[in-house]
This record gives sequence, structure tokens and C-alpha cells, in this order.
Amino acid sequence: MTDSRTGLAGAAESSVAPRAPFDPARVREDFPIFATPRDKKLLYLDSAATSQKPQVVLDAMDRYYRTCNANIHRGVYRIAEEATELYEDARRRFAKFIHAASPREVIFTRNSTEAINLVAYAWGRASLKSGDAIVLTPMEHHSNLVPWHILAAERGVELRFIPMTDTGELEVSALPGLLADGRAKLVSFVHVSNVLGTVNPAAEIARIAHEHGATVLLDASQSAAHMPLDVRALGADFVACTAHKMLGPTGIGMLWGRRELLEAMPPFLGGGEMIREVHLTSSKWNELPWKFEAGTMAIAEAVGLGAAIAYLETLGMDAVFAHDRELSAYALERLAEVPGLRVLGPSADKRGGVVAFTMEGVHPHDVATVLDSEGICVRAGHHCAMPLHDAMGIPASARASFHCYSLREEVDALAEGLHRARKIFAR
Ligand SMILES: Cc1ncc(COP(=O)(O)O)c(C=O)c1O
Repeated sequence: MTDSRTGLAGAAESSVAPRAPFDPARVREDFPIFATPRDKKLLYLDSAATSQKPQVVLDAMDRYYRTCNANIHRGVYRIAEEATELYEDARRRFAKFIHAASPREVIFTRNSTEAINLVAYAWGRASLKSGDAIVLTPMEHHSNLVPWHILAAERGVELRFIPMTDTGELEVSALPGLLADGRAKLVSFVHVSNVLGTVNPAAEIARIAHEHGATVLLDASQSAAHMPLDVRALGADFVACTAHKMLGPTGIGMLWGRRELLEAMPPFLGGGEMIREVHLTSSKWNELPWKFEAGTMAIAEAVGLGAAIAYLETLGMDAVFAHDRELSAYALERLAEVPGLRVLGPSADKRGGVVAFTMEGVHPHDVATVLDSEGICVRAGHHCAMPLHDAMGIPASARASFHCYSLREEVDALAEGLHRARKIFAR
């Protein structure tokens, strides 16, 4: 079953039965970084920036380099075929993971940022002209703002924004008004905010956008690794993800797009692999998905991604999401006990595993430094969401974020660390 407003796939749609019950302490044992000897125990609360990697991902990448390192698609010899098979297997796994109609709809990029830029360059430049508009939100990561700034300046395109409530939820009721004149050709928005944690009603936004003839891009950087994702149920046209937040390696991202859109788009980057024929003065493009994969791709990283997805499937995405939400709810409860602390974003039932906050009279960097002295890793700054911080009237915030290996004890340590920071700076 899929929720028609959020587009979240239900338990019945997970492809592999989760091991039950979900036990984060047991999950943690699969991540070697937590067993690495160090002065202070590692309390890692920065998974929204990048996730830790399980042993199976490290092993898969290591095995690839040790046993079948070769360039893909080009060799007829055995290890080149093996490498190609591993690379394409990762694509198939990811396609299945997000319920894509076909692996041909999955394009490997360097990260989410490149996936969004690919759409801005290849689709945007072919589809938008002066006088058109793009609808975004104030809670976008810079990766889903700056590519549109560049396009808007180049083409004379107007940028419009879905308004946001004080608690960090989108006012979706305003969207039909933003689309009413028919000039908006794209609605591009984040699924889960990397600062507020807000889970946006993606399916509802996509439905309204389509009713007005607009194409939909969903930035799933913070959702793909944390909840069941069904791109078809969500109704998006493009979805951008990044492997390093999904327990996979850095250096590889994924763009899913509806096949007919991808087929119609010109290439993004030119070079080897993305061609079918090259002459001195002209060339013909390869078919999907390789038309968008120029040059030698991140092969070992694709192998790592494949292993990460297999691992996430054994956990069960429903269980991962329930765990994130439970920790967020617990963090909201514990952080409410800290005097002078303002938690940003909506109530626990409307957010994923992200909790950002400010402490009255104390700069977030100072808060993060005190926490670091106790081995607690949180992020401080604008989290690549400057306009969102501007909208909230603050220059920066500190952020704790969770994944499948995060523990309640870490939230307790965070709360205690914040009490201590408060005492230090209140002197
Ligand atoms: C919501 C969101 N979008 C996009 C990105 C960009 O991801 P990457 O740096 O992997 O391209 C991030 C990374 O933090 C993010 O949180």
C-alpha cells in the first residue's frame, strides 16, 4: 500500500523481509568505525551530512579492486565482463529499490548535486525559455537552488517559492496559485529537509504540479536512505539521490527520470561511453542510460552502492524510518529540557531523523565545539541552506541527525552535552 499524500511505500512493498525486531545496537556492530579504538567513544550524530559505511560495503569495494578491477563496457575479457556486471547490477538493484519501471531510467552521476545539474542543463535548457517560471521552496539545499539560479539568469526564467509556515511546513494550498498562469514549467523540491527534518507531502505536490502541466523534480537526498521510496507512487518525473548518505561511498549519485523525458533530453556531458558513433565533426548518442554517463564512471563506488542497498534491504526501510522517527521524537523530548534551546522544524510525526536547534546567546559553532570535546559529532552552520536560515531569522544552527546505527544513549549524551554547553556559556 502507498500513502497517496506522501507517496511512501508501505511494508508490503519492501523487496526483502526485514530481520526482526530492529535492533540498532546490533546494526551498529556492522559498522567498523564504531569499533575503531580512539580516546573518546564516537557519538556520531551527523548522518544527514554523510552516513557511516557497513563492513559489507567496504568488503564489496575491496573485493572489486582485488579480484576484477577493469574498465567497464569496453573489454571482452573475463574481469572486464565481471566489472561491467557488478556495475550494471548496482543499477538494477537501485532501480528495484526505488520501484523504477526499468534500470534504463537510472543514471549514475557523482552525487545529488550533479543529478540536479544534469536536469537543469539537459532538460532545463531544452525546455525553458524567457518568461517561464520554476517553483521551488525556501527549505531547499543550495544544490536545488543554485542550478536554477544559473538557468534563471541565463534564460530570463522567474523563480517562485511555495511559502512555509513558522514550524517549517510547506503551505501546499498556495501551490495552485503559483501555477495558475501556466508559466511554471517545473516544480523542484526537497522530500525531507536536511535542516528542519520536515517530510514534505511529495505525492500531493507532484499531483498538483502535474494538474497544471509542470514537470516535477524531487530531491530525495535525505529520504532515499531512510524510508521506502516508490518513485512511481510519488509521481515525480525526476528524482535525485546520493549514495554517501545511503550507507554507500562518496563519488556516486543517482538520477532517476521518466524514460520518455530522458529519451528526449540532449546529453549533459560529452566524451567516451555516451556515444554510439563519432565522426570528425559530429557524433551520435548512445542509448539510455549510457547517453548520460560520459567517461569512466565510479565503478568501485557503484559496487559499494549495490552492497549498501542490499544491506538496507535486509534492515527493511520501514524499520529504518520508524527508528529514525523514534529517535527524533526522543530527541525533541530531551532537548525540550535544555533551557534556552529552540528546536527548528515541525512536530516529531512530521519529520525524519533530523533535529536542528539554536541555543540562546551561544553560537552554534561553540555548541558543536563543546559537544566535540565529548566525542559528539553534530554539524554547525547553515547546512547549505542559507535562505532557509534567513527565513527563520538566524545565521546558523546546530544539527543532530540519525541513521540505522544511532542509539538513544547518543541522544542522552547530546542532551547532557547541551546542558553543559549552556552552563559554560551562561557564566
Ligand atoms: C537535501 C539535500 N539535497 C542535496 C544535497 C547534496 O548532496 P551531495 O552533496 O551528495 O550532492 C544534500 C546534502 O547534504 C541534501 O541534504
